[in-house]
Amino acid sequence: MTTKDDITLHRGLQGVYFDRTATTFIDGKQGILEYRGYSIHDLAAMSTFEETSYLLLYGDLPTQAQLDEFDAELKSSRELPEQVLDVIEIVKDSHPMDVLRTAVSALASFDEDREDNSIEATYRKGIRLTSQFATIVMAHHRIRHGKDPIKPSTSLSHAANFLYMLEGEEPTADTAELMDRDFVIHADHGSNASAFTARVVAGTSADLHGAVTAGIAALSGPSHGGAAENVMQMAQEIGEPENAAQYVKDLLASRQRVMGFGHRVYKAEDPRARHLREGVRKLSEEKGEPKWYAILEAVIDAMKPYARRGIHVNVDFFAGVVYYLNGVPQDLFVPIFAVGRVPGWTVQVVEQFQHNILIRPLLSYTGEHERPYVPIGDRG
Ligand code: ACO
Repeated sequence: MTTKDDITLHRGLQGVYFDRTATTFIDGKQGILEYRGYSIHDLAAMSTFEETSYLLLYGDLPTQAQLDEFDAELKSSRELPEQVLDVIEIVKDSHPMDVLRTAVSALASFDEDREDNSIEATYRKGIRLTSQFATIVMAHHRIRHGKDPIKPSTSLSHAANFLYMLEGEEPTADTAELMDRDFVIHADHGSNASAFTARVVAGTSADLHGAVTAGIAALSGPSHGGAAENVMQMAQEIGEPENAAQYVKDLLASRQRVMGFGHRVYKAEDPRARHLREGVRKLSEEKGEPKWYAILEAVIDAMKPYARRGIHVNVDFFAGVVYYLNGVPQDLFVPIFAVGRVPGWTVQVVEQFQHNILIRPLLSYTGEHERPYVPIGDRG
């Protein structure tokens, strides 16, 4: 859009490149996503969240010894300071995303690298936060129901431990694997709203905890992470697969959006979506609730005419049902997204620090000029 002053506005910064990255590649037209040059399809099928986190942070796949050391660091960081559990208790009635934001901000005060904003310290903080996020989400969930938090396991994987902290029951290997895949596909996604927010904060040379706290706030909105919660709600409103077509028609006729569809960058199918699709099918059959998968497929069918306009299914479409079928309450869906995204936020902040610049765009002023100042007693 060109204004009267010949200023080109890029509302929402659509299509604007603001820096370079060596971390995540996205081709929205072709539906390609790579972390550090590795296809998301290979990583979803063969990697683990721990390995993918290492890859994102350090640029290469780890050797077994490197992975063991990294995994040990993650495992040893799972417990929260007592004071942070107290903070969670105080704010326990808020939405879990708000509690997560507050708890992460509070964690800054207890981090051993609190005074150190170097790249090395930022990596250490990012590894600790990756583990602590999972504990915060589940500890809060227990505390708000009057239960004691489950002590994190020192042996389970990140994904299995996350589910374990819900009720103290170890998940099956299949369930843990699906959760792990969910974390892998959510681990980074270029300059999405929350990562961009984190970069803006890091651009002022503020610290990782500040950047990530702001990132959580950005993620909480329904146009970003909030969609997973809304998709499950939509599936429940639809109730039965045969209602899906009419439901979608009514929604679109009232100019509302179908949650879990559309993406600012992808105009082809979001390459992450397919990795949960089969898992949802299997899981909903295993749990004796195949209708959820059938409802989602019926919504996809109803949305087919919109594919021509570049509106395809996105990663959040299947994620909510995975969590629901695992007994995770709906308001924890977005926090789960955040649990998976910590390595991405960390590496984006590290990249920002490595080549830092203040992010400060311009606004084209449309208000009045040279208004006479009227003393308060003379205003009508
Ligand atoms: N359902 C119906 N129509 C849609 C949808 C949708 N989900 N998404 C976009 N459209 C339509 C818009 O109405 C608009 O139509 P118009 O040109 O006739 O007005 C057109 O497509 C372009 O939409 P924009 O909002 O301009 O596209 P933008 O890139 O800003 O939006 C967004 C991207 C916010 C994700 C949008 O697709 C949306 O609201 N989707 C639903 C929420 C959702 O699933 N969010 C998760 C995103 S993925 C993630 O964060 C992990």
